[in-house]
Amino acid sequence: MVKVGVPLKGFADFSRKVAADGAVLLKNDNEFLPFKKGEQIAVFGRCQFEYYRSGTGSGGSVNTEYKTDFINSLIERDFVTIDENLKQVYENWLEQNPFDNGGGGWAAEPWSQAEMPLTDEIETTGNKAIVVIGRTAGEDKDNLATAGSYYLTDDELSMIEFAKSRFDKVGIVLNVGNIINMANFDADMIIYAWHGGMEGGNAIVDVLVGDVNPSGKLPNTIAEHIDDYPSTINHGGTEQNIYQEDIYIGYRYFETFGKNKVMYPFGFGLSYTTFDIKNITGTQTETGIKVFCEVQNTGTYSGKEVVQVYAQLPQANLGKPAKTLVGFVKTGLLAPNETQNICIEVLNYTIASYDDSGITGYKSAYVLEDGEYIFHVGNSIRNTEIALKYFIAETRVIEQCQEAMAPTQSFTRMRPFGNCVAYENVPTKTVDLAQRIEENISSQIEITGDVGIKLVDVTAGKNTIEEFVAQLTIEDLQTIVRGEGMSHPQVTPGTASAFGGVTNHLRSLGIPLMCTADGPSGLRMESGLKSTQLPIGTLLASTWDAPLIEQLYEMEGQELKSNYVDVLLGPGLNIHRSPLNGRNFEYFSEDPLLTGKMSSAIVRGISAGGAIATLKHFACNSQETYRHDINSVVSERAIREIYLKGFEIAVKEGNAKSIMTAYNPINGIWTASNYDLNTTILRNEWKFDGLVMTDWWARMNDCVTGGEGTRENVASMVKSQNDVYMVVGNYGAENNENNDNLSRNLEEGKSGCGRCSPFLFCFLKITK
Ligand code: BGC
Repeated sequence: MVKVGVPLKGFADFSRKVAADGAVLLKNDNEFLPFKKGEQIAVFGRCQFEYYRSGTGSGGSVNTEYKTDFINSLIERDFVTIDENLKQVYENWLEQNPFDNGGGGWAAEPWSQAEMPLTDEIETTGNKAIVVIGRTAGEDKDNLATAGSYYLTDDELSMIEFAKSRFDKVGIVLNVGNIINMANFDADMIIYAWHGGMEGGNAIVDVLVGDVNPSGKLPNTIAEHIDDYPSTINHGGTEQNIYQEDIYIGYRYFETFGKNKVMYPFGFGLSYTTFDIKNITGTQTETGIKVFCEVQNTGTYSGKEVVQVYAQLPQANLGKPAKTLVGFVKTGLLAPNETQNICIEVLNYTIASYDDSGITGYKSAYVLEDGEYIFHVGNSIRNTEIALKYFIAETRVIEQCQEAMAPTQSFTRMRPFGNCVAYENVPTKTVDLAQRIEENISSQIEITGDVGIKLVDVTAGKNTIEEFVAQLTIEDLQTIVRGEGMSHPQVTPGTASAFGGVTNHLRSLGIPLMCTADGPSGLRMESGLKSTQLPIGTLLASTWDAPLIEQLYEMEGQELKSNYVDVLLGPGLNIHRSPLNGRNFEYFSEDPLLTGKMSSAIVRGISAGGAIATLKHFACNSQETYRHDINSVVSERAIREIYLKGFEIAVKEGNAKSIMTAYNPINGIWTASNYDLNTTILRNEWKFDGLVMTDWWARMNDCVTGGEGTRENVASMVKSQNDVYMVVGNYGAENNENNDNLSRNLEEGKSGCGRCSPFLFCFLKITK
């Protein structure tokens, strides 16, 4: 009999490898790293003891059997000598100045902790110093562009200066969930260790002592000032954020308009060895391109390199970023002198741009515009060589879609004009959504009453899903779209929800009671049961190693299965639109391709392990403040090319079976009841055949007319083909504890109510 709360053997050890592979070394002067055997190291900063394993909120709440920190991992390694006196001074001070959790509650915990004032009397010894800087943020808690959050505090800056006054060589370890401002401090060595989960302390020591050669690359651009990020001016609103920067997020903006504002470019990261990416060539194929190169380790340490392919697309009717990531591969561990041949294939669809205005002559289509196409290959966005160039004489349609989710409100968006930023009007909605829904609505199924068909009969192919659904009563149909939670007594203790067979009658038809749990970085069980805590999403993305992440999440799938959890509420795929978003740690990158590839790996891994991943938060959940209200006003092009692209890749390549909508509205329609999002694009265009659920206690508004979002409007959720409302109280689904409007709307004869999406049943059918 499998016991719940018993972490999978070997899983934490594997997570340590991943955590080490995601560390990004930005600077390494004066032979700072790797440490040499017997060197004397002084360590500053309280986070050497109080290592941040994760950000805060649902994504960070994993109970582990143990945790690691930096200083104890370093001592246990017995490789260098640490400054015991300094350690003791810190320990004494920490006794008097314990960790401040803000009084309890996720959002109460401060982004950082007070640092010990360093006075002249403190004696230090050693030849090198490490300063550990820590930051957290999370659910309901955005970062702020203030000291202690995005910026270092005066005490932290003084600590770095103090270390420099005592030591010739100083390095900084950043134990942060998110990029921070780096313009006002410097050191010989700077490494982003991120939040590495329960084994993060060991992992960063593995890198520092040279057991692991760093191979992480930045998943974001680090610019000098927060105001350099084009989203900053439109981030943090209370009612709406206008995505005026459009598709020019992160490097797409900086490489096009502001190269000199960049401190550390996208895709950049150092190694202890050197690589030569050579014999770079490329060829056009029927479906896209292929690039070839050889990667040779030309240094003295074994190491891994990431080969990145960027497209330079023609500036034509549609504006384009100067460079767009279209492919990447990480090498294996190459010994000195060893060479690996690399081939990367890129589909035309990945290169194509979406025309939301019709300016190319092909409205609502992915197109390759006429002009010159240049493909660059290298190991960061800035360090590349040309692999291939060709011309397209006439604009080609790669995929014809239909207008969906277009804004209703007029605004202007960024586009290049020469090297300058120009603005153009954003195309607004032209379709009649009411008519679209009416035309697409599936035919009504006559209720037959119970004719003895069980769900297993559908799985076995004896009956159709429609015949099965026809047996359900109106009450069953209304009940099954309500999930119950949290900490449901009939599923694994302390998890997020139970759904599906929430009543005896539904279960009697063979509909299982399914269990969901947070995610994404390990299994959250508020009951105190233990599980394995993994590195955060941003660290995973920094590995650029999809096969490695797939292996990691196969183990996560096994751990979920052994805990009787069917569905993990992760990965989180939202784009890092602003460095200030508090939940960036759970998400991957400013780039949708990297996001999509990582998510696909996670989805496949979890599925191979025996459970199901949920892509969240679908979509444009770019800030935590006012997350239930804030309307994301975005062009259809940016929605499709940036904000939905990761989800699309995970659906098409990862074969994702579960998605959670976000809290916020997009262009006036809450995502939980957004028909174009959940049906036109997700189900009809991408052919998604799994389950959609809302985020917990989400709001919905009318999917046609808009208006205020409420928790009662479950009818609109159903109409948009979002399957399950998460959550009503435990045992509250049958009696409509939340007083939602399903039966009221049915009585009033409004269409779409009392109708249950067959997708929910398909989902149950494939999962059990
Ligand atoms: C979060 C989700 C999470 C859910 C269940 C919500 O507040 O936004 O990401 O999965 O709670 O814990």
